[in-house]
Amino acid sequence: VGPKPLSGKRVLVTAGGTVERIDPVRYITNDSSGKMGFAIAEAARDRGAEVTLVCGRTDGEAPNGVHIVKVNSARQMYDAVMASVPNMDFVVKAAAVADYRPMHQEAHKMKKTSEAITLELVRNPDILQAIGDWRAIQPDSGKPFVIGFAAETMDVEKHALDKLNRKKCDLIVANNVAESGAGFGTETNIVSVYGPQGLVEQIPQMPKRAVAERLWDLAEIRMNVTNAQ
Ligand code: PMT
Repeated sequence: VGPKPLSGKRVLVTAGGTVERIDPVRYITNDSSGKMGFAIAEAARDRGAEVTLVCGRTDGEAPNGVHIVKVNSARQMYDAVMASVPNMDFVVKAAAVADYRPMHQEAHKMKKTSEAITLELVRNPDILQAIGDWRAIQPDSGKPFVIGFAAETMDVEKHALDKLNRKKCDLIVANNVAESGAGFGTETNIVSVYGPQGLVEQIPQMPKRAVAERLWDLAEIRMNVTNAQ
């Protein structure tokens, strides 16, 4: 038995949804369970990688045998991810990061006052964009290999390719989260993987762990191709 394909490699995976506090008892989040990110982390671990898993709010047990960093907000996830990106060989951004957070986080539980209230939101930092921008100015700009996700409900290919180019990823995994058996909270997923040259592979409905194995197959091939050049 030879060495495992990812032995000696450092992998960073993000999973789950971020939590954006309104006040001590209320928050904004999304339906991400963390299952897709967990499956990617487990598959990398079993291929011999040293895995760091940055988790937001998740359901169920996080995998064993990986280094877990718990965060709540998008800004905390940004700090945790950006601190370790320079040491990584692969980064996979399966987390569902809130694009906006409440402008003010109230120190005390908000009281019921008027009939209607307005919650003002401000943009969160885009972590995947920050990784792409950072990597573009590094001398070894091929490292880490970056896989982004794109959760879409319409014009999936168009939006996924736009995200791939804008956020400067090596691969983007497009998820039509409106399809049954795909996306948030499900045991299975259905995805299309795109690279800079367009569609790489359509992965039909299968367990998230099996999707994760296909993604690692694709990433390993592409990383070796990059190394050979
Ligand atoms: O966790 P599960 O229940 O298993 O569900 C899996 C999933 C549907 C969450 C997953 O497969 C998925 O699609 N994850 C990405 C969700 C998402 O936030 O997509 P997006 O299209 O909004 O973001 C695009 C990419 O940018 C993502 O890699 C995201 O992590 C990243 N991003 C987005 C916003 C932000 N502020 N920072 C980011 O890094």
